[in-house]
Amino acid sequence: MTTFNSAEAYAPASMGNVGVGFDILGLAFCEPGDIVRVERRLDGTDIVIESIEGDGGVLPRDAAKNTASVAVKAFLKMIDASSGVCISLKKGLPLSSGLGSSAASAVAAVVAVNALFGEPLSCEELLPACLEGEALVSGYHADNVGPSLLGGITLITGTSIQDIYRLPVPENMHFALITPNIAVPTVEARAVLPQMISLKQMVSQTGAVARLIDALYRNDLQAVVQAMESDEVVEPARAMLMPLLNEARTLAKQKGALGLVISGAGPTLCAVCDSSKTAVHVADALQGLYDEAKIGGVARVTKVDQTGARVLNVL
Ligand code: HSE
Repeated sequence: MTTFNSAEAYAPASMGNVGVGFDILGLAFCEPGDIVRVERRLDGTDIVIESIEGDGGVLPRDAAKNTASVAVKAFLKMIDASSGVCISLKKGLPLSSGLGSSAASAVAAVVAVNALFGEPLSCEELLPACLEGEALVSGYHADNVGPSLLGGITLITGTSIQDIYRLPVPENMHFALITPNIAVPTVEARAVLPQMISLKQMVSQTGAVARLIDALYRNDLQAVVQAMESDEVVEPARAMLMPLLNEARTLAKQKGALGLVISGAGPTLCAVCDSSKTAVHVADALQGLYDEAKIGGVARVTKVDQTGARVLNVL
């Protein structure tokens, strides 16, 4: 097996759920993303977290508790290697923000360590190791890990690679994201969800997912966004955790957005626009809304990342 001394990889942010499609749809954003660098350790067989930047000192440095190192450990087990690896993580993603932060770290780490060992596994074969890392903090589901690893818009019906389907990405699909300055841990955002729904709600939700997939295949962005906004189960339950959700939706539409949904478990909100110019206007307006409310936040303009995680360098 070829082994290099170091490798670095990037994994993009993602939105688990695409408005509707709770836990079964996801998409990757071009940015932000996490960068992980791994180095072969010559002095031991442990996995060590050497540094983490951009997390405000919040993430665990203990390799048993960090999503990136747990994913690396799972990868090393898969290839039956017992080498020591040092990990340096650059967080481009805010934590507990609905942008798939834990998934991006796990995915970037696994893609980097695969490159370090000369790519013994295909991109698809990396999914189980990424999921092991993600499971540490967000549960064993692939609606963030799948799109972050593979890119694009994905339907995820299970946790093996055969359960992940790439869906078409509409032309001119642009996003304005606002990440308010509050953290909403996924576990809290899941705790408010109903455990049972009515038959009527089930029919409506199923119909919305079907409409969304049909609209993606027809490249009909307006219908895509109408379907995205049709969630009658998850968004109503989580709305109380998302400051200014209604105000942000109204404002985004006034500025030309086609619609707005919660990104993942929130609190990031994702407005969908049909041009980059409109997305910039909407992002500016959403930034102003949260600044004026003294909540503050970070607005971003982005698109669907069609590539997924990638190796940046190998030495
Ligand atoms: N589908 C997940 C949720 C995304 O909405 O809770 C966050 O991991």
